[in-house]
Amino acid sequence: MIISRIILKNWKNFKDIDVPLRSRTFMVGPNASGKSNLLDAFRFLRDIAKPGGGLQNAVLDRGGISKIRCLAARTHPDVEIEIHLSEFDSDDVLWKYAIGIKQEVRGYRLPILTYERVWKEDKLILNRPDNNDKKDKERLTQTHLEQINANKEFREITRFLESTVYLHLLPQLLKHPQSFTGPDLPGDPFGKGFLERISKVNEKTRNAWLKKIETALKIAVPQFNKFEFKEENGRPHLEAVYDHWRPKAGKQKEDQFSDGTLRLIGLLWSLQEGDGLLLLEEPELSLNSAIVSKIPALIFKLQKPKKRQVLITTHSLDLLSDKGISLDEILVLSPSVEGTIVLTASSIPEIKSMLEGGMSPAQAILPRTKPKNINQLTLF
Ligand SMILES: Nc1ncnc2c1ncn2[C@@H]1O[C@H](COP(=O)(O)OP(=O)(O)O)[C@@H](O)[C@H]1O
Ligand SMILES: [Mg+2]
Repeated sequence: MIISRIILKNWKNFKDIDVPLRSRTFMVGPNASGKSNLLDAFRFLRDIAKPGGGLQNAVLDRGGISKIRCLAARTHPDVEIEIHLSEFDSDDVLWKYAIGIKQEVRGYRLPILTYERVWKEDKLILNRPDNNDKKDKERLTQTHLEQINANKEFREITRFLESTVYLHLLPQLLKHPQSFTGPDLPGDPFGKGFLERISKVNEKTRNAWLKKIETALKIAVPQFNKFEFKEENGRPHLEAVYDHWRPKAGKQKEDQFSDGTLRLIGLLWSLQEGDGLLLLEEPELSLNSAIVSKIPALIFKLQKPKKRQVLITTHSLDLLSDKGISLDEILVLSPSVEGTIVLTASSIPEIKSMLEGGMSPAQAILPRTKPKNINQLTLF
């Protein structure tokens, strides 16, 4: 399944957007235009749906409704999220899920639902508040999505959303997890526990996936020869062997890998690991442009057999220079005082005509992502 459309109202810097999504979608826009905030809407739904999650935790983890609600909203309207779900290669809508959220005016000022609706194809199968909610208002502090007792008719949506994975691997965190104390972040978004994740996969599968990564690293990383997964004193490690004139000197553990090598391992592992929605935050970081330019094709190749959706934020000219990317697969985010606007690149006439004139998507789109007065930065 994939999310074929998302409609947001008052979600962070999006006052009102309605965007179609493809099985592979690239999101581009200036700094602070809301690319990460857009991905966060999917993570929010995951956080509601996941075991031990729920609406209250999902809102609390984000600092409360006041942090989530769009600053461009003038009164105190609901924060609203609606998604449509479809099969991988189809536009037919299988499910729709929609919620509105606000903060209680009195009492504990908890986040509460103003509505929760589920459609199976076109049929409305859940419509809250229902009579039970009206009798007991406290029920509106929880979604049915998060409750096993209540979501039997649409558990497929819960299962789909909870399998969402977000990847924004920070190499330093992976290399030196002990230096970053404090509670671990839910879902391990930055890869602190990445090695534990690898260790939890059964040996046969793990070796098969690592073998594939090894093949890729041999191409991408100079002198790289092979690598292995090891447990030492109960702690998981990756150990790579590099070709070296002194045979024994070529071994390195993950804390000596280059940032780019680690990010590439993280990317390749995550693409193989699951089959739920995968959210990739700027996968180009620390990677050489020749490798970056292959990322779209790599994603395409690995997502296809699993029918898995991948949403990618990027700033990279190299990444978008792949001729195989269609304009329908690119969302352009443009900030405005009324919140960020999101358009499919194919719906912007100037971009279309630039492409007809022979430009690549990257050449046509990326100039739009630079700040208006960028030249003044040198006057600083
Ligand atoms: N509730 C909100 N209302 C409006 N803007 C918000 C809200 N929360 C965060 N933002 C703004 O969103 C911007 C950050 O967006 P982000 O998704 O990190 O951008 P990007 O990933 O594109 O660089 C910041 O400028 C921040 O002020
Ligand atoms: Mg960002």
